[in-house]
Amino acid sequence: MKVKKAILTGGGRATRLHPITATINKHLLPLANKPMIFHAIEKAVEAGITDIFINTNPGETELQKYIGDGGHWGVTITYFEQTGGPQGIAHVVNVAKDFIGDDPFMFYLSDNILLGSIKDMVAEFNQGEHDCMLALSEVKDPQRFGVPIFDEHKRLVDVHEKPAEPQNNFAVTGIYLYGPRVFFDTFKHIKKSDRGEYEISSIHSHFLQHNKKVGYKEITGWWKDTGKTNDLLIANTLLLENMSEDEFSVNAEVEEGVEISGNVHIGSGSRIGKNTTIKGPVIIGENCMLDDCTIGPNVTLGAGSDIAYATIENSVLLHNITIRVPKKITQSIIGKNAQIIPRVDTHCDGHAMIIGDKTIIEM
Ligand code: G1P
Repeated sequence: MKVKKAILTGGGRATRLHPITATINKHLLPLANKPMIFHAIEKAVEAGITDIFINTNPGETELQKYIGDGGHWGVTITYFEQTGGPQGIAHVVNVAKDFIGDDPFMFYLSDNILLGSIKDMVAEFNQGEHDCMLALSEVKDPQRFGVPIFDEHKRLVDVHEKPAEPQNNFAVTGIYLYGPRVFFDTFKHIKKSDRGEYEISSIHSHFLQHNKKVGYKEITGWWKDTGKTNDLLIANTLLLENMSEDEFSVNAEVEEGVEISGNVHIGSGSRIGKNTTIKGPVIIGENCMLDDCTIGPNVTLGAGSDIAYATIENSVLLHNITIRVPKKITQSIIGKNAQIIPRVDTHCDGHAMIIGDKTIIEM
């Protein structure tokens, strides 16, 4: 029986990415100018998924608005709320029990961004020899993740969630495959962890202690869990660097003398004015105005933005941003409708700022 259904995460408060995620769902943050969750949907669809179930925060309808019903990808997308409040990612899966029924399924944490394909992993799982299959990736900081434990024959024997002293350098990524019913039968037996969550690693530990067949596949190419700002910026850079040339096109009005090098995409309705330099990889949204500035490399700039005099590199900028100061901006995430503009009251010196909660400015 082939895996056709997938549960994707879309909920959570993403406090580690505040203040940006105080006003936008983390899964909609643009990476290479595409909402983060689109990357997850595309990987799932490429691997043969046709039915996607996305959990949302109670009352929130932002995801539905941006993602729609799946028609864009030729699949069906259904949304569900995590009843009973946040209780961990294994609980998210259990809430979707009725959608899954007796079918095998994929569970995908939508903040996991990877370069390679998961097609081979799904194809191997579809041969029907496993109850569960985990995607692993070698990392420098395994203590931040679920860590697989192997025996001397490289067979999985356990999974430790965020161990203080990891036994190896592998992380269990947020991409999992399960055979019919096994997940839900096991969920009944696991308890909440010390942080008050039903951990996905507890499910896998239980499988391994009860003779379930748990396989694994190492992810080829890079993998990033974008839970923290720095990882988000790295994921943006890696995605931009690995996009193919034909995904870039300049659909803007470009004045004479503008220098454009490397892979650069500029959305329609944008205007690139004099003395501007753009160094790819860069993606600029629609209806942006650029003048006398330097953009790139590794910049995602949202639609409707107005940039002048600044130098911007290695950054993710959401939409409708105005920056009109001769400053260099790097390693930054800038929220929608933000403005960095010259001081209006020139009689006083110093910077005047209206800064949202938890904003970080490194000067
Ligand atoms: C979760 C899982 C962890 C896994 C990680 C992958 O952690 O609990 O086992 O390695 O996702 O992204 P979280 O990011 O929720 O802390």
